[in-house]
Amino acid sequence: MVGLGMIFDETYLPFFRANRRQPLYVPPGTPVACRLAAVATRTGARADRLAAAEPALGPFANFSGPDAVDRLLASGVRAVCVATPDDRHHGPAKAAIAAGCHVLIEKPSVLRLDQVDDLVALADRHGVLAKVVYHKLADPDHKKLRTLVADGVLRHVNNGYCSLLEPKSISGGQFAEWVSGRNPGTYVAVHYLKLIDFSFGPAWALDRVAATGQRGLVGPADGPTWDSVQLQVTYRHPDAREATFDVHTSWVTPDNFPGYVEQEVQFRFDNAVWAAHQRKRGVELTVEGRTPHELKNTPNYHYNGTFLEPWGERTQRGYGVEVIERFFREVAHVEFGGEPAGRAARLREMRGLAYNDLSADRNCVAIVQAMEAILARAAAGAPGCLVKVNGPAGGLALYEPGNATPTVLYHGRV
Ligand SMILES: NC(=O)c1ccc[n+]([C@@H]2O[C@H](COP(=O)([O-])OP(=O)(O)OC[C@H]3O[C@@H](n4cnc5c(N)ncnc54)[C@H](O)[C@@H]3O)[C@@H](O)[C@H]2O)c1
Repeated sequence: MVGLGMIFDETYLPFFRANRRQPLYVPPGTPVACRLAAVATRTGARADRLAAAEPALGPFANFSGPDAVDRLLASGVRAVCVATPDDRHHGPAKAAIAAGCHVLIEKPSVLRLDQVDDLVALADRHGVLAKVVYHKLADPDHKKLRTLVADGVLRHVNNGYCSLLEPKSISGGQFAEWVSGRNPGTYVAVHYLKLIDFSFGPAWALDRVAATGQRGLVGPADGPTWDSVQLQVTYRHPDAREATFDVHTSWVTPDNFPGYVEQEVQFRFDNAVWAAHQRKRGVELTVEGRTPHELKNTPNYHYNGTFLEPWGERTQRGYGVEVIERFFREVAHVEFGGEPAGRAARLREMRGLAYNDLSADRNCVAIVQAMEAILARAAAGAPGCLVKVNGPAGGLALYEPGNATPTVLYHGRV
């Protein structure tokens, strides 16, 4: 485990806890177990606290400091999860793949297409999986959305909006160490970018990206750190009709907001409208002195919840945890799912899963790279840029208003 922060606590830790109790995967023959073997973090303090608080996880090595990842890899781990801040994924992921480990990277996988190229080629050479976490694809509502599209019930998406608003405590507290120069679009728009790309693709082509945003709360109004971002992405269907999506994100919503995050979508089709709210799913809870801070007024227990099961067991589960478990099942399938001679075929099969394979994350990374370049130009005094995808100038070409000569961000085809 590289990085032991908020997302580790929410999704990885319950997975590791559960897997101390029962095997992960049972191919014909032997059960396969999975355990947290080592962690690498900046200071090691949280790992010390975790080891003391949860002896049931079993012993794990605690590496910290600048060479923590190298020492973790030298300790003999088989799979590595990268949950470091957004702009620190590529280095640890590359080192882990080069050491022959399967890798799971938190979203956003990486910030540039050349980094995707690099990791996918390396994973190919070392015969390992390189995957990314997009838990929204495992949300039952989103599974149904995609099922209705696949079955032709929802026909030909034309446009839509998504909004994902995080509380101020994220930008001002949780992420204060790395928030400078960052934006909430990269952090959370990717959830919906992947939902759109995976649910309505892959036959269409990404065409262009525009973005703007606001500054002045998290950092100075003329600086590189963004409070909120409005992103617009356009695809072209094979019939040449276009589809455009607006994704609004923020990390300066008031902390006493009734849910953890505000998430809402609407998708319009030729024959249908899909509208969904991620936290208003029917539960509304008020507890004196506890809501809305410690407990939320409109919780989403489908993502992640602690439960007393009807059969008496205490569990923590939801699609946020399920998606981590799936990765380890995929690793187990590659390594233990049959005869060693069949490993290459099993690896190919698991790499073919577009929901989490890094090779299928190109459109999302392209949008992130384009958005970050547009925001950087805006912060440098040139707002209103647009990135054209796979046009005559290259894979990603950034056009500034009033200048016909683009800056090519990525030469190859997206
Ligand atoms: N899937 C989701 O819904 C979801 C939710 C939140 C965060 N995330 C993603 O997970 C990642 C981590 O987010 P978080 O909220 O856990 O952050 P966090 O700030 O709470 O924790 C970051 C962790 O990374 C460690 N770290 C920082 N730099 C490091 C380095 N160079 N080497 C090793 N460790 C280092 C820190 O010590 C800390 O343990 C981000 O990419 C974020 O986008 C995903």
